Amino acid sequence: MASLGRGEFLEMLGVARAVAAEAGALVRAGWRTPGAIHNKGPVDLVTEYDLRSEELVGDRLGRAFPDHRVVGEESTAAGTAPGGEEPEMVWYVDPVDGTTNFAHGHPFFAVSIGLCRRGEPIVGVVLAPALGTEWCAARGQGATRDGAPCRVSSTQNLLESLAATSFPYDKPAGEKSNFRQFEAFYRRTRGVRRCGAACLDFAMTADGTYGFYWGYDLGPWDACAGALLVEEAGGRVSDVLGGPLHPPAGAVLATNGLMHAAALDLLAEVRALGR
Ligand code: IPD
Ligand code: CA
Ligand code: CA
Repeated sequence: MASLGRGEFLEMLGVARAVAAEAGALVRAGWRTPGAIHNKGPVDLVTEYDLRSEELVGDRLGRAFPDHRVVGEESTAAGTAPGGEEPEMVWYVDPVDGTTNFAHGHPFFAVSIGLCRRGEPIVGVVLAPALGTEWCAARGQGATRDGAPCRVSSTQNLLESLAATSFPYDKPAGEKSNFRQFEAFYRRTRGVRRCGAACLDFAMTADGTYGFYWGYDLGPWDACAGALLVEEAGGRVSDVLGGPLHPPAGAVLATNGLMHAAALDLLAEVRALGR
């Protein structure tokens, strides 16, 4: 595909926002009355709203972009390109990010829709229906929160920042458990929040609420839209060693840019302890 112009970015973003709004209304209707809740793992839940939201988003994106692939968390591959080739454009959809919150009536959950072109995020929408807040971005066009441009924080020091993190469902031991990292950042920042929806952690880093966010074992549906928000808001996204991510997933660090090196150093310090 040839290079994309501003109009094409904005058109794809417009579709993504409309689809997120529709899915958000559906999910909002089930908040506090989530119906049947099933376990995917010992503590990993799925509700009928995750499934209905994913079906809706897959249907709408599939109709609007028949030659794109849609990868949703719950079905992992809703639709492939004609001929079965890996298409250049892949949408990563988390139909409800923060399902545990949603299932317990907590307001921190969101629909996350991100588009990657050859692994690079180019369109992203995070819509939190119970908060009534939408963050969105298109590559090269900046990021917005509820329609107004948003920027990462200007904080330079960890000690003056509020941070966010998340813990994987499979409760791993060792480095990926994130407890040692949590303690280290808790001691070196104003505080670390753990709100249970990774896409909101990215979004609130993009709008300057958090100075940075780190998390392990993220899926591309957790991270694609949010990583673009952070970059377009002036921040930086890498893996926890400082390397690039195509697409954003796995062990991710998203910062306001100014504290990226310091956060990487602290993560390295924790790794070096190797307990
Ligand atoms: C989860 C949330 C959580 C993070 C997990 C994710 P889900 O997504 O984003 O904050 O710690 O790693 O899997 O299951 O609620 O969509
Ligand atoms: Ca998720
Ligand atoms: Ca989910």
